[in-house]
Amino acid sequence: MTSYKELGLVNTKELFKKAVSGGYALPAYNFNNMEQMQSIIQACVETKSPVILQVSSGARKYANQNILKNMARGAVEYAHELGYDIPIVLHLDHGDSFELCKDCIETGFSSVMIDGSHLSYDENVALTKKVCEFAHSQKDYVTVEGELGVLAGVEDDVSSEHSHYTQPSEVIDFVGKTKVDSLAISIGTSHGRAKFKPEQCTRDANGILIPPPLRFDILEEIEKKIPGFPIVLHGSSSVPIEYVHMIEKYGGKLTDSVGIPEEQLRKAAKSAVCKINIDSDGRLAMTALVRKVLVEKPDEFDPRKWLGPARDELKKLYSHKNQNVLGSAGQA
Ligand code: 13P
Repeated sequence: MTSYKELGLVNTKELFKKAVSGGYALPAYNFNNMEQMQSIIQACVETKSPVILQVSSGARKYANQNILKNMARGAVEYAHELGYDIPIVLHLDHGDSFELCKDCIETGFSSVMIDGSHLSYDENVALTKKVCEFAHSQKDYVTVEGELGVLAGVEDDVSSEHSHYTQPSEVIDFVGKTKVDSLAISIGTSHGRAKFKPEQCTRDANGILIPPPLRFDILEEIEKKIPGFPIVLHGSSSVPIEYVHMIEKYGGKLTDSVGIPEEQLRKAAKSAVCKINIDSDGRLAMTALVRKVLVEKPDEFDPRKWLGPARDELKKLYSHKNQNVLGSAGQA
């Protein structure tokens, strides 16, 4: 049994309170390898941003739970070594069972998501409540994110063909019964790099897909029902077209890629949305740079020579998000 405090981590409680009142969102960046973790910490230290390091169950299987735990400890020490102790959360993304959440809590996670959004409403309430009771009764309080509404898209083990928006009429009851610390909602974001079908989009003069706007009306209704309660947006990668083009230029094929425009995320971050999840953009940046280097330098076979440039690009991407999209820069 390891408590997150032993690793130097914090839960999301105070961070969310500050983010909601300060009108910004915390970055929740997914990671599963060393280069991703290093770039996230470098970017967040340089921009003085708090950060949520996020691990899906797929990432946990890929990287091994002990290694991830020690990477989180390493992240805290790395930030210190870089000269600025930013608050770092280790969060389970899309926990799908009580057992997985419990296991993560007992191995040093400071925050977990229990995603019962695919269940019936009553089953979702019961499962989320069970996880909250366990997480909140720990010596060091672990925060819990629940979800209402279903996002479309594919992400690791989580996939859904169809989405449905969060129903504002359910949120008071859900939050009251479960005692969750934050709520992920569905207002039109979606997992993955192809968030909408082309027929759901329009195109600009260059043929680039323009997605349908987020349902800010639903967000506003939810905020009226539970004022100041921390709201989470999943599926919030912007899918930068430069990375898509770079990947395709160097041999990849990513047909019909489309993400959430930055100005919409900027607007969301100023509301009660206090955590914005970003995974696909990091994958795109890393893949783009790895492809570029390997194609331009066919005789290169030292992984540091292609992972290094990918890491530098990731750091640029995360710094940009903290400074220009989420508003979390300077808040640590
Ligand atoms: P993206 O696929 O848009 O990066 O979303 C990631 C996410 O929501 C992780 O839970």
